[in-house]
Amino acid sequence: MSFKPNIRWILFRIWYWYISKTDKNARVLFMNYGYHDKNQQIKIDKDDELNRYSIQLYHHLASEVEIENKSIVEIGCGRGGGLSYISKKFSPSSAVGIDLCHKAISFCKHFYSDRKILFFKGDAQKLFLNNNSCDIVINVESSHRYNDMKAFLREVYRILKPGGYFLFTDFRQSDKIEDLKKHLEISNFEILKERFINNEVIAALELDDPRKRNLVKLLAPKFLQKIALNFAAVKGSDSYNKFISNRFVYFSYVLRK
Ligand SMILES: C[S@@+](CC[C@H](N)C(=O)[O-])C[C@H]1O[C@@H](n2cnc3c(N)ncnc32)[C@H](O)[C@@H]1O
Repeated sequence: MSFKPNIRWILFRIWYWYISKTDKNARVLFMNYGYHDKNQQIKIDKDDELNRYSIQLYHHLASEVEIENKSIVEIGCGRGGGLSYISKKFSPSSAVGIDLCHKAISFCKHFYSDRKILFFKGDAQKLFLNNNSCDIVINVESSHRYNDMKAFLREVYRILKPGGYFLFTDFRQSDKIEDLKKHLEISNFEILKERFINNEVIAALELDDPRKRNLVKLLAPKFLQKIALNFAAVKGSDSYNKFISNRFVYFSYVLRK
């Protein structure tokens, strides 16, 4: 399958790389849009409060299944904040984070060196893990960057043990949701839960807006600021407006092998 990277894809790669290069003080541990349900405020440690909305995106999925004493793999772990939270809060027997960006993986290896989490550079569409080797796979706001969704789902299915869970959340343009559903239908996974969470994601974007604007000011050079504000989906940006008008649809799935 040939893949032509579009300008948004290239700019995203540059942005992830740039954050990894410039964020020497580890201000960015998460790179997702977040989740907020005002009826389900979770308790988190004081140190994590800054990243509450991104953590809530992980929590709403991770709390769907029993993780304690199970092995978990995160594909597209970014800067590791989500897997670190899961390790701390849900006590898996082992945790492995995989990401395509080698700078993000170097950061994670260094920053979480005191934790029992292993990090590896790897491609979601061609995983190096053995068949039937883990209990839970989690994937958060990463799959929209993959060019071969079928290969990704095939790989997740392959590495999960029978009965293992795939916790999956991300967004798509509204006209691509049917394609995603078709891919899931033919993937052999059993769909236990399907949710469309634009309202919760928009609530998080609005509450987290001042912090994200500050971060962009701090980290991005002038020429990248407009693009970075759009990637961060701050209020009034094109990305934010697409969530408001449902041209972007944010979904979450609990799937079982
Ligand atoms: C928006 S960030 C989300 C990171 C993290 N899940 C979080 O919520 O903070 C998307 C991540 O997916 C990674 N990614 C993109 N394509 C990938 C691929 N083919 N295989 C593995 N990771 C990939 C990027 O490098 C980036 O770290």
